[in-house]
Amino acid sequence: MLKVLFAPLQGYTTGIYRAAHAKIFGGIEAYYAPFLRIENGHPRERDLRDLETPAGVPGSPRVIPQVIANSVEEFKILADALLQKGFTEIDFNMGCPFPMQVNRHRGSGLLGDTQAVQAIMGEIARQSATETARFSVKMRLGQDSPDEAFALLPILNDTPLTHITLHPRLGKQQYKGAIDIKSFEKFYRECRHPLVYNGNITDVSQINEIERRYPNLAGVMIGRGLLARPSLASEYRTGATESKFISKLFQMHQIIFEHARQTFQGDSQILAHVQSFWDYLEPSIPKKTFKRIKKAGKLSVYADAVSTLLPENQHE
Ligand SMILES: Cc1cc2nc3c(=O)[nH]c(=O)nc-3n(C[C@H](O)[C@H](O)[C@H](O)COP(=O)(O)O)c2cc1C
Repeated sequence: MLKVLFAPLQGYTTGIYRAAHAKIFGGIEAYYAPFLRIENGHPRERDLRDLETPAGVPGSPRVIPQVIANSVEEFKILADALLQKGFTEIDFNMGCPFPMQVNRHRGSGLLGDTQAVQAIMGEIARQSATETARFSVKMRLGQDSPDEAFALLPILNDTPLTHITLHPRLGKQQYKGAIDIKSFEKFYRECRHPLVYNGNITDVSQINEIERRYPNLAGVMIGRGLLARPSLASEYRTGATESKFISKLFQMHQIIFEHARQTFQGDSQILAHVQSFWDYLEPSIPKKTFKRIKKAGKLSVYADAVSTLLPENQHE
């Protein structure tokens, strides 16, 4: 069985989302938190707060924080903040294609800079030797060409990493366009660390096929496929389709909704935090319900639309 890791998705896999998913659906080995970044010289407070287990939700899933940095200086500030918070595993982002980050030489914008990566990997080696910290890397093949990943591979191979997660696209492709399986397979052969595959997994048969084709793979990381079908990982583990999908989805949403109502004030603020839950779920729920949920401008209308998901509330 491959390990299934929940990919970090800025704006979606928040602390409360991760906790609610773990409680209701599960099947996930670890949840990767969206990247922590530097804001005005300091780790962004909001991101740090979101790493704490939300109050009121029992059980805490295994959460691995991620940092994005363009230099060893930024990297140290962020890693120190996380180590101080008690985290012992940190993921380093070399894959984010958002122009805001790429233009600042972060995420996939760093892949072409062997020197900066070498300096950060040196810091990872130093910290792994002296602290209790362990590090992993999440990356793409390059910003402009897969040559970038292969130029970095000897450096990465020499760094003590727990694993590498590879999303075999280029930064310039963003989240669309073909996956470069040929380059993935070359990387799989040449990478000396445990390797995790990431990109476009949406159903159980794909995971089974990946498991069969790449017997040395350490796991798969899934993002949008899990947002669209939160039962995907548990269905892979059990081999059975989730028969209570809609009622579990409802329960998961209730946890997030309740948390938003307690945390934020006013209909529009609360709605801004819960409506995105449905963004990727359009194919999984009735079209009419999806439209009503997304169009709702008042909390009462929204709650009513969500409640029609339950069979006892389906009058039409
Ligand atoms: C809206 C959005 C936000 C994302 N935020 C992050 C992030 O904070 N850190 C990161 O490493 N990847 C981020 N990603 C990339 C995903 O983790 C993942 O690598 C990508 O979506 C491909 O996997 P998938 O096809 O399974 O979704 C983001 C992707 C999307 C669509």
